[in-house]
Amino acid sequence: MPPPSRSLLWLGLVLGAVCASRGPAAPGNATDPLNVLLIIVDDLRPSLGCYGNKLIRSPNIDQLASRSLLFQNAFAQQAVCAPSRVSFLTGRRPDTTRLYDFNSYWRVHAGNFSTIPQYFKENGYVTMSVGKVFHPGISSNHSDDSPYSWSVPPYHPSSEKYENTKTCRGPDGELHANLLCPVDVVDVPEGTLPDKQSTEQAIQLLGKMKTSASPFFLAVGYHKPHIPFRYPKEFQKLYPLENVSLAPDPQVPTGLPLVAYNPWMDLRQREDIQALNLSVPYGPIPADFQRKIRQSYFACVSYLDTQVGRLLSALDDLQLASSTIVAFTSDHGWALGEHGEWAKYSNFDVTTRVPLMFYVPGRTAPLPVEGEKFFPYLDPFDSVSEVPEPGRQTGDLVELLSLFPTLAGLAGLRVPPRCPIPSFHMELCREGRNLLKLFEDHGEEEEPHVRSNPRELVAYSQYPRPADSPQWNSDKPSLEDIKVMGYSIRTVDYRMDA
Ligand SMILES: *[C@@H]1O[C@H](CO)[C@@H](O)[C@H](O)[C@H]1NC(C)=O
Ligand SMILES: *[C@@H]1O[C@H](CO)[C@@H](O)[C@H](O)[C@H]1NC(C)=O
Ligand SMILES: *[C@@H]1O[C@H](CO)[C@@H](O)[C@H](O)[C@H]1NC(C)=O
Ligand SMILES: *[C@@H]1O[C@H](CO)[C@@H](O)[C@H](O)[C@H]1NC(C)=O
Ligand SMILES: *[C@@H]1O[C@H](CO)[C@@H](O)[C@H](O)[C@H]1NC(C)=O
Repeated sequence: MPPPSRSLLWLGLVLGAVCASRGPAAPGNATDPLNVLLIIVDDLRPSLGCYGNKLIRSPNIDQLASRSLLFQNAFAQQAVCAPSRVSFLTGRRPDTTRLYDFNSYWRVHAGNFSTIPQYFKENGYVTMSVGKVFHPGISSNHSDDSPYSWSVPPYHPSSEKYENTKTCRGPDGELHANLLCPVDVVDVPEGTLPDKQSTEQAIQLLGKMKTSASPFFLAVGYHKPHIPFRYPKEFQKLYPLENVSLAPDPQVPTGLPLVAYNPWMDLRQREDIQALNLSVPYGPIPADFQRKIRQSYFACVSYLDTQVGRLLSALDDLQLASSTIVAFTSDHGWALGEHGEWAKYSNFDVTTRVPLMFYVPGRTAPLPVEGEKFFPYLDPFDSVSEVPEPGRQTGDLVELLSLFPTLAGLAGLRVPPRCPIPSFHMELCREGRNLLKLFEDHGEEEEPHVRSNPRELVAYSQYPRPADSPQWNSDKPSLEDIKVMGYSIRTVDYRMDA
């Protein structure tokens, strides 16, 4: 039994203090406020059963979708971790934060902007962070924006430090720092993986909150399918190589403006990729290795799905499924060989489009009745039944920016006001839309597909470059090296790049 984490010890103190005072700002009067479980996945594109992918085994996320409102056209504002997370967690565009890299803390270098968890904390919620929610490091002041955003110290899995070390057994029998890293979990340092630890921690926190007088906001940030693809090796069996196709457009398109392309340097640093002697920047990856990369990404998605399944099933066992909103999304997508790219770092749809769904008890699905299992754990290795239909879905163009006002609205908190221009001086405001209207129930006779007027809606994404053609730092230019800003303006039918 590991010693209780710092967050668990702190939580005891916080709950002790809260119980004495009881009185979160309850929305409405007769009902208790809803809790929030926000699941943020790292580098997950919508390659999921519930988004129509026939190959992927993601039964637990599909089950969540079947009880949720699912957004078919959700886009991140910048396809790289820290800027995207700062953007959607503060509800401001990258062009407002002007933090397009990993090296600055917004409170110091942009404005003292409130965050989603901070807003919930200030409204009486106990807020908790598990895993990668804010990007770690200086971009969140080496503290995941504590103490502003969180009631208790954020939790990071101890086995995270092995992610980039030599723990991948290669064909030569030696351990390497590889891109492809299926492991035997009992053999790796600490005998566990970061996402497993995060699930366990999150379940413990949920257990503590079960009897809490105040509502909670728990953010769980999963690491996979971010590279390296380090995952329990049995998940590879779900995707035999002969079943894995190449991307439909695996070549760098002729006539592509070179500024749009980036050389995916992070992949090239891995030992197994180095051994391929690829030419920089376009060097195609041999087709058989492309299949292996796609296989491992998909295996990571199924591994992630089991973690989401364990977490939701615990929520259910604790009888919290009828009082907790579950929001599920990712910081951005990832190119799996489309137009010759293997990365995020661009404005292409494959890197900007994200899964986004919200389960709202009693609203997107009926309330579970006492004793009913609402999110039973589903094993992706079990023979496949049909992927259930999403509960409801919408094709509206939405931006991840809208997470802030939408979560606030769904929980019954006052939706922050729209930001004026400029808004550097304003701590609490939002640039995203409040999507609440899309959750309105239109009665049974209407189509389950909710549509407002999609043609009026657009989603913006942007990506900076240090030069007009790919060079060593095109993936992640530092602020001082940025020379070009590319924009993508997406409507339902078109995308314009400028
Ligand atoms: C709750 O508020 C509504 C109107 O806002 C009011 O009609 C009702 O009496 C209130 N109920 C309680 C239990 O306070
Ligand atoms: C920034 O916001 C936090 C949280 O509201 C507040 O405690 C802090 O004093 C603010 N800092 C500045 C410099 O305004
Ligand atoms: C960032 O962290 C440092 C070290 O803990 C602290 O002194 C500083 O006040 C923090 N910055 C802000 C804006 O809170
Ligand atoms: C691989 O594809 C074959 C043919 O479509 C199918 O029968 C088999 O079930 C697939 N294997 C897995 C593990 O999905
Ligand atoms: C890569 O280059 C090295 C050194 O030039 C060579 O020994 C090796 O065989 C090459 N590997 C492949 C896969 O071409």
